[in-house]
Amino acid sequence: MKCKVTNKSINPFMSFGKMPIANGFLDEKDFSNEFFFNMEVGFNEELSLFQLNDHPKPEKMFNKNYPFFTGSSEYMKRHFRNYAEFVKKYLKTNSRIIEIGSNDGTFLKNFDNSENYIVGVEPSKNVADLALKNNIPTINEFFNTNNAKKLKKFIGNTDLICASNVICHVPDLNNLIEAVDLLLNKDGIFVFEEPYLGSMFEKVSYDQIYDEHIFIFSASSISKIFAKFNFFLIDAIPQITHGGSMRYVLKRFKNSENENLKKILNYENEKNLNKIDSCLKFKKNCELSRDNILNKIKTFKDKGKTICGYAATSKSTTILNYCNIGTNYIDFICDTTKEKIGKFSPGKHIPIKDMNYFQNNMSDCIYLFAWNHKEEIFNKEKNFKGEWFSHVSL
Ligand code: TYD
Repeated sequence: MKCKVTNKSINPFMSFGKMPIANGFLDEKDFSNEFFFNMEVGFNEELSLFQLNDHPKPEKMFNKNYPFFTGSSEYMKRHFRNYAEFVKKYLKTNSRIIEIGSNDGTFLKNFDNSENYIVGVEPSKNVADLALKNNIPTINEFFNTNNAKKLKKFIGNTDLICASNVICHVPDLNNLIEAVDLLLNKDGIFVFEEPYLGSMFEKVSYDQIYDEHIFIFSASSISKIFAKFNFFLIDAIPQITHGGSMRYVLKRFKNSENENLKKILNYENEKNLNKIDSCLKFKKNCELSRDNILNKIKTFKDKGKTICGYAATSKSTTILNYCNIGTNYIDFICDTTKEKIGKFSPGKHIPIKDMNYFQNNMSDCIYLFAWNHKEEIFNKEKNFKGEWFSHVSL
């Protein structure tokens, strides 16, 4: 499928090769039917937009088997409590709040349902069911103009629409913004957080790129895309989640220049984030990063060391497939998610094991795939005396 922000196609500047579904953890019987797509990225200079050239249909990724649960990290639960506090300043009494891609309800749980009217819209059935079980009103659908019209009839206009790590998943951004426009009050606020292009370039964390992340946004791209729909970017606040994200605040009008936002837009200009040149530099850095990590792993192996992976993240799918790392190097990946345990990693088919197995089969070296959760994980694994490593600095 092609993305629909502009009707123009983009020229890819880099290919990561054949990629499976990043969260497509599978059983051995399904190895021969595994779906792959050619993962290429391009840059739309008109919108300063970094994006996948082509991507699988959303239904292939967000369905009853979606194995990502926001509440699986204590840090993320704390983050969503703080995020809720941040948006509460925009609320009045009896405000209506919609979350797009509400997952298991970790964010909406922080609002009092008797004071505000809250609704989550979540396409993946298993996580939506969990939210419902926790009394978070949830509609199990993709957010678009069709269900926005229905929602409007049901709850009227909305004061606040929020999202996290979701807007970059939506191929038809035009339709999503139209749906937001349809639902939001005249002075309503749209707030969302997404992995940030500036951080990805700086850290060479190319594992942010996978089927679900169709776009990697910057403040410049958000400002340009939303301007087409008469929305203004009024603030941008850096976040440390997901290895470097940005929280964007949008409104139909702006009161005054925001110093914070000005600083970020200046940074993006200085770093050439609006130009293809920064992408070409990133491409070289990815190739270098791949050589370095392969050399590191080969050196461990030459010394007879055993290696396991820690956390079967979606990000790890890009690393393992782009660098061609399989069971020849990594014996298993441990993870806490019951939906992943007992399955195999997408594409490279490394077994996913539980934390007991990890403790009873200690490796000499650990590839930390959830490098963005390193504080939480290092804290839990203080007893490990071997070597942690990753493609980003730890
Ligand atoms: P995250 O970086 O949010 O994943 P993604 O790249 O998919 O966005 O990490 C979530 C995954 O990491 C999930 O599979 C659970 C696993 N995990 C652990 O196994 N142990 C931990 O202590 C943490 C924090 C995460």
